[in-house]
Amino acid sequence: MEYRMTFKKNILCIGAGYVGGPTMAVIALKCPEYRVEVVDINEERIRQWNSDHIPIYEPGLDSIVRETRGKNLFFSTDINKGIQEADIIFVSVNTPTKTFGEGAGMASDLQYWEKTAHTIVENSTSNKIIVEKSTLPVRTAEAMERILKAGNRGIRFEVLSNPEFLAEGSAVMDLLEADRVLIGAHRTPGGLRAEQEIVDIYAHWLPREKIITTNLWSSELSKLVANAFLAQRISSINAVSALCEKTDADVSEIAYAVGSDSRIGHKFINASIGFGGSCFKKDILNLVYISRSYGLLEVADYWEMVVSMNEYQKHRFVQKIVKEMFNTIAGKKIALFGFAFKANTGDTRESAAIYITKQLLEEHAIVAISDPKALDNAKIDLKGMDNGVLYIPDPYEAANDAYAIAIVTEWSDFKNLDYERIFKSMKKPAFIFDGRNLLDHHKLSEIGFNVYPIGKTPLTHFD
Ligand code: NAD
Ligand code: UGA
Repeated sequence: MEYRMTFKKNILCIGAGYVGGPTMAVIALKCPEYRVEVVDINEERIRQWNSDHIPIYEPGLDSIVRETRGKNLFFSTDINKGIQEADIIFVSVNTPTKTFGEGAGMASDLQYWEKTAHTIVENSTSNKIIVEKSTLPVRTAEAMERILKAGNRGIRFEVLSNPEFLAEGSAVMDLLEADRVLIGAHRTPGGLRAEQEIVDIYAHWLPREKIITTNLWSSELSKLVANAFLAQRISSINAVSALCEKTDADVSEIAYAVGSDSRIGHKFINASIGFGGSCFKKDILNLVYISRSYGLLEVADYWEMVVSMNEYQKHRFVQKIVKEMFNTIAGKKIALFGFAFKANTGDTRESAAIYITKQLLEEHAIVAISDPKALDNAKIDLKGMDNGVLYIPDPYEAANDAYAIAIVTEWSDFKNLDYERIFKSMKKPAFIFDGRNLLDHHKLSEIGFNVYPIGKTPLTHFD
């Protein structure tokens, strides 16, 4: 107990997930005078954070956790004690799409978030700053304040919004070299004082001009809008990819030509099998739901199309596989290279691979899945329906005797394989459907593959 007196402040984070873990590890690294504790109801997850095998794969995270854990970074399941001792509480629990009742399939499910609000009130014995780290509907802080005030025992809570913009697979770099940090607070003396405390944390490693401060509602809504804009770029280029396939235009050339306008830019404009991940779809649907609930139907429809286009792109990819393989894939082995929703993560939440696998299974294909980090999660995602699925860590083995390879995740490992060897081991004619435009298509064609990229003319050996 003694050592806690030496820390300047106690920071608590409720929720030890993909955001809570990395964010707090970096804060602990950069702010050694703060004590940072991360708590979770999930005992297994906390056990893993305290072990040699942390629960998420994120480049660079391992070493930061090793450096800080036990010094000023702690992982625990004792949520109540953590709350009592904290000066600042980040709430980073999951806020998935609601699956039941009013708003099912669209609105945010705020049950985990609300539970933490009640737990905070019940266990607080001193004033605290509460920071919304989770992505939440605009004006959620108002509800948080009502819950906190309802249990008032003379304690002051100041609620702030500090949404997280990190992307999985690059979380550590995104945190260390953030484009910006956003902090929203009430423009009252108490709000501004609390805001300064959060600014002080990030100012340990980021220049002050990268720390943006706004009113609470702008901060909450900016997070949903940022994700909607990013996802919109992918849906826009994916829509163009379908047109390219009809016209022999090349989507990569278009992305380069269009992106060279500095107002548009080159980043985040790669055509694909469609975006996945735990946030884009849920956050856009949330934006759609909020817009509709304010009676803004055109606004809602506008954003909803970003999701519809994404569903279309996933569907189109499977349709292409079936059509090009002579309209039947029943009994044929298809090697799926990748299952994670993007490279450098083991996360498979909302991965396009899940949809693609299910559709291929519906067509009675045998699906051999190979992914460097995501096979365990794939097994969970496909549990109960994986009759016809093979989980094979070695891509060469997955492709052996296969009729086709589908590139689903852009792991660089797949770029460096010996495709001559793979071609020899496959059934002929051998197909590659490159859902990420990852590989050297001309080289593959020279080897003998029939190559089907996204948004480009296929390279085939048929007359
Ligand atoms: P996650 O599911 O990985 O982690 C959330 C954790 O909260 C879980 O471990 C869960 O057990 C815990 N939890 C739930 N209820 C709790 C409670 N009452 N008390 C204590 N712990 C509780 O989720 P995540 O990916 O870290 O996302 C968290 C939030 O951050 C979401 O709102 C998400 O939209 C947002 N976000 C995620 C990312 C990302 O890349 N994953 C990026 C930016 C923002
Ligand atoms: C995204 C945002 O990039 C983060 O800023 C945000 O904090 C996060 O959502 C969140 O709120 O959860 P993330 O989902 O982790 O991060 O990963 P991204 O890199 O955005 O990729 C999302 C999906 O889009 C992936 O399936 C990826 O393969 C796909 N993508 C990305 C493309 O298809 N084309 C591209 O050009 C870029």
